Amino acid sequence: MKSEAARPLLFLDSGIGGLTIADEARQALPYHQQIYVADYAGYPYGTKSESEIVAHLPILLGKLAERYNPFIITIACNTASTIALDAVRQMVDIPIVGTVPAIKPAAQMTRTNIIGVLGTRATIRQPYVANLASQFAPNAHIIHHDGSDLVPFAEAKLRGQKPDIEDLRRVLSPMMQSPHFSDMDVLVLSCTHFPLLHEELAALLPKGCQLIDGAKGIARRITTLLERSGARIKADNEKNVQHQFLTTGKLSALCDYSLALRSRGFVHHEHFA
Ligand code: DGL
Repeated sequence: MKSEAARPLLFLDSGIGGLTIADEARQALPYHQQIYVADYAGYPYGTKSESEIVAHLPILLGKLAERYNPFIITIACNTASTIALDAVRQMVDIPIVGTVPAIKPAAQMTRTNIIGVLGTRATIRQPYVANLASQFAPNAHIIHHDGSDLVPFAEAKLRGQKPDIEDLRRVLSPMMQSPHFSDMDVLVLSCTHFPLLHEELAALLPKGCQLIDGAKGIARRITTLLERSGARIKADNEKNVQHQFLTTGKLSALCDYSLALRSRGFVHHEHFA
């Protein structure tokens, strides 16, 4: 049985989007081993139904918890978190950290009270997201936009393919046509893939519009949970931490991502079924 502090931190997303969360967590907690799970067999989540996601996620995370005994599981995906967080918590007896749209900080940042929420089709229709807006931004006008079609561009960027800005403009175009768009001063990136397109998206937004996401907040939350249990590792001079990347899809498909994965310290790649 591993000592508490040596238990890995597990992150899960449908693809590589959750690396934006794992990256922040590695910066805050460089001595903790990470296991990252890209559920390519279930990718993409954002165009699936609620019942498909609720049927799938708790079983997959239950199997992962049993196999790897992580200290904390982070669902590094807004779609999965806003739909299945409760179902997963009921099934898995390990602390679960979810990723939900950063509407609360956005409400504190906005001056115009016009906030954009860019998520997948499934995320933007969730009551969870409507509740966040009515609880934390009751006076704001929220422009929701389905950015599901941006996800493949983020995946491709990590394989080294630079997105064409005109393709991204086409996806954002309905949002850009909103009569409030020019006054939008905060855009909440409500899909973990989207921070990978930060630069391109920023070029399409009104001048001065800030983009925010939940990654730093989640890294802080994981740190707090580790500290509270006395399991935070502050230094480890004895060994380099080696992270592990699992895919439920084809292992060979990871070759295209190898540069991005290696640069993040994910040296071991495995198939998980
Ligand atoms: N990265 C995921 C999210 O945060 C979704 C991507 C997908 O559609 O699979 O919602």
